[in-house]
Amino acid sequence: MIIRSVMTGVGSYLPQNVVSNAELSKRVDTTDEWITERTGIKQRHIAAEGQFTSHLAIEAGRAAMAMAGMTPDKLDMLIVATTTPDNTFPATAAKVQAAIGRPGIPAFDVQAVCSGWIYALATADNFIKAGQVKSALVIGAETLSRFLDWTDRSSCVLFGDGAGAVVLQAAQGQGTSADRGVLSTHLHSDGRYFDILQADGGVSTTQTTGLLRMKGKEVFRHAVVNLAETAREAVDANGVTFADVDWLVPHQANSRILDSTAEKLGISPDKVIITVDKHANTSAASIPLALNQGVKDGRIKPGQLLLMETMGGGFTWGSALVRF
Ligand code: UT7
Repeated sequence: MIIRSVMTGVGSYLPQNVVSNAELSKRVDTTDEWITERTGIKQRHIAAEGQFTSHLAIEAGRAAMAMAGMTPDKLDMLIVATTTPDNTFPATAAKVQAAIGRPGIPAFDVQAVCSGWIYALATADNFIKAGQVKSALVIGAETLSRFLDWTDRSSCVLFGDGAGAVVLQAAQGQGTSADRGVLSTHLHSDGRYFDILQADGGVSTTQTTGLLRMKGKEVFRHAVVNLAETAREAVDANGVTFADVDWLVPHQANSRILDSTAEKLGISPDKVIITVDKHANTSAASIPLALNQGVKDGRIKPGQLLLMETMGGGFTWGSALVRF
C-alpha cells in the first residue's frame, strides 16, 4: 500500500470582462483572422481594475474546496502558482490563506511561469506522499494582462487572466496505474533559455515589474519537442500507453501546439480538452482551468486517466499523469 494524492475537488474563476479579438483589434494593430489562424484564440478574460490575482485565486480555491466538501480546518497546505503576484512579497498565498480562514498551515507561492501549476502539483503531491500533510489546495492564478506591452501585437493578443484550483487528499493506493490520484509528476528546466520568454524587469534589476517579452517562434520550436518528450516519460513511468489516456489536459498556449502535440502522441483531437479559444494563455492557471472545464461539463469522469503537460518561461516544462 502506498499514499496517493487524489483530486477530490476542482474549481475556477474567470473575470467577468471578456475581450474578443474584434474588440482588441480596435486598439491593437491586429485582426481576428490573424489571431484565430495563428493561435486559435477567439477571446480572453481581463481582470477589472482593483481585481487582483489573489481575488481570482480565492474564488477558484473556494470552488474547489466546495466540490471536495472540505472545510478550512481540514486543509493542511496551500500553494499558489503565479507569475503575477499581488505584491513582490509576501506570497499571494498568504492573502488566499487569510481569506480561506486557515491560519498556521504552510502557504507559499511557486514561480515557474506557465509550468507553475504542474510544479505546485508535484510539490504538494510529494508532501502528501511523504506523509507530512494529508491535504493541499493547489491553485494557479494569473493577471497577465497587467504586465503585457499593449503596443507589442506579437505578444499582447495571446494572454488572459483567470484562476483554477484543485484539492488533493491523501488516500491509500496499491502502487499501480489503476490507483486513483497523482500517479507521477515530471519536472524540467533549462535556464540557458532565460531571455526567450521573460519579463524585462524585476526587483533586483530595474526595480520595476518589467513587461512580458517573448520570441514566439523559438518558444514554439522548443515547445513541440519538450511537450512530446515529457508526455512520453509520464506514460512510460507508469507502464501505460497513450491509448490508455482518456483525456489530454494540456497547457493552453496555442491551438497549433495542442494539435501537433496530440498528433505526435497519437492522441485523437476529440480526447484533448481545449480552452485556449475562450481563455487564451492564462499561464499557471491554464491547466486547472481546462481541467475544471472538462470536469464541470461532464467529459472528465472519476476513474479516468488524465495526461497533463506544460511548457513555459525559464524554460520550464513538465507533465503529470493522474487518475481522476
Ligand atoms: O505559454 C508559454 C509558451 N508560449 C508559447 O507556446 C507561444 C509559442 N509561440 C506561438 O504561439 C507563435 O510563435 C506566435 C502565435 C506567438 C506567433 O506565430 P508565428 O506564426 O510564429 O508568427 P510570427 O511571429 O512569425 O509572425 C508572422 C507575421 C509577422 O509579419 P511579417 O514579419 O511576416 O510581415 C508579424 O509581424 O505576423 C505578424 N504578426 C501579427 N499580425 C497581426 C505578429 N503578431 C501579429 C498580430 N496581428 N497580433
